[in-house]
Amino acid sequence: AIGNGTNIFWHECPVGKSERQKLLDQKGCVVWITGLSGSGKSTLACSLSRELHAKGKLSYVLDGDNLRHGLNKDLGFKFEDRTENIRRVGEVAKLFADAGLICIASLISPYRKDRDACRAMLPDLSFIEASTVYMNMPLELCEERDAKGLYKLARAKKIKGFTGIDDPYEPPLNCEIELSLQDGVCPPPGTMSGRVVTYLEEKG
Ligand code: PPS
Repeated sequence: AIGNGTNIFWHECPVGKSERQKLLDQKGCVVWITGLSGSGKSTLACSLSRELHAKGKLSYVLDGDNLRHGLNKDLGFKFEDRTENIRRVGEVAKLFADAGLICIASLISPYRKDRDACRAMLPDLSFIEASTVYMNMPLELCEERDAKGLYKLARAKKIKGFTGIDDPYEPPLNCEIELSLQDGVCPPPGTMSGRVVTYLEEKG
């Protein structure tokens, strides 16, 4: 049988995670950004990566939209496809963290069970689920931004199963960082990424 774990073996490489981390002088981890389309996930991810880079820390952004051009180009947006999308990116993020990088995964990841499954596959503190949106970045704001014109298409029923319109977004129940509007205004990306950097520094 193929793909069910039969007749396959694990080969341990003599160069381990701790050696790689020592070489890079940092700890590998995963920062998972979840939120509606248009909530600012990619902007936050880029700002965070830029800030980490300036501090001499190696990071890499796994962006849902970008990965769908390659690794996940066989997947659509139906329930099982999104689940498989999140599973694959979770596995890739795990490899990046194991390589010693700060892996920033930026995906809508709308279903709680998929995010929980990703968290479960990563050792305790290496997964930080930072929601950019789930409480205070209202759908109306994301829809108003509509940078890609997708909300408009979804409202016109030209796209079916669009997150927030006719497909659910399940907000995190216990995320480590929640980013939201301040006095009704979206904070600048640098302010938001600064909060994540502070959190990472506190966690070592
Ligand atoms: S998911 O739900 O986590 O599997 O989605 P993700 O891989 O992050 O991809 C989200 C981007 O795909 C575009 N898009 C859609 N989003 C939501 N629902 C539907 N039906 C859909 N169709 C296309 C959209 O540009 C998302 O990009 P972001 O960056 O989130 O705006």
